[in-house]
Amino acid sequence: MSALDVVRTVAELRERVAAWHRADETVGLVPTMGALHDGHMALVAASRSDCSRTVATLFVNPKQFGPNEDFEVYPRNEDEDSAKLAAAGADLLFAPGVAEMYPAGHSTTVSVGPLGEVLEGTFRPGFFTGVATVVTKLLVQALADRGYFGEKDFQQLQVIRRLARDLDLPTEIVGVPTVRESDGLAMSSRNAYLGEAERAAAPALHGALASIAAAVRSGGSAVEAIAEGEVTLTTAGFDRVDYLAVVDAGDMRTVSTLAELEGRPGRVLGAAHLGSTRLIDNLPI
Ligand code: PAJ
Repeated sequence: MSALDVVRTVAELRERVAAWHRADETVGLVPTMGALHDGHMALVAASRSDCSRTVATLFVNPKQFGPNEDFEVYPRNEDEDSAKLAAAGADLLFAPGVAEMYPAGHSTTVSVGPLGEVLEGTFRPGFFTGVATVVTKLLVQALADRGYFGEKDFQQLQVIRRLARDLDLPTEIVGVPTVRESDGLAMSSRNAYLGEAERAAAPALHGALASIAAAVRSGGSAVEAIAEGEVTLTTAGFDRVDYLAVVDAGDMRTVSTLAELEGRPGRVLGAAHLGSTRLIDNLPI
């Protein structure tokens, strides 16, 4: 198996994508922070099935980590990630350093407004500004035909759809369904932090979301289902629930019954702490 080509500058990335476009190829972009697992690989597979070339990006973005979050210890292993991407058939890895993405004096940020201020935005102030800023930069740097993002981070996906639309970015944003372990736990780079007992308790988050979705779908009250879900999580061993919420998938505003959605897609989302690890997950209603 040949090693994956790696570029570290925006100029080289642009050159490679422009050459493919001149040759009438289509280019898919798969942004990641590395520590790649089968969830990331599903994005690569989706890109490969739609586009003739796939570019993955690897950048642990300091601007989306809070002061008390895990930026320093976030798992980093470029060689392993690069080998996985090569095996999956990606064509290029863009792995810039911090100085390439944020040269001295960088000061412009992207913020999508209320969509990024609820749920995750409440518990991780500044998180979506960090994500929106780096994703806007990656989309503008690559000018790919399509960009692939996971439903695992559902609010993030909606934020990215919004910024691409609001800023007239030429890349079509494609959402890819969540890849799960056999017990329901959504795959995540942060699952590596879980101890044995925590790993055993972790699928309860998916279970609680599935129960809430089922209750709301059959006409029940979201408020009651959420209260039960909180009990389920603490009983399973979760230390703290940041939120369980049923929302309108379009604007992420909370709803309390199926009727309030008036036929629009709904989503149930949750975030909870297991020891020092914070897990998030979501399901369609
Ligand atoms: P990261 O957590 O590495 O995730 C990269 C992409 O993989 C995101 O689009 C995420 O939603 C998707 N993904 C993660 N786990 C998944 C799973 N189990 N199933 C399907 N897709 C999954 O999300 C980020 O990085 C960053 O915020 C980023 C968008 C790269 C900006 O820095």
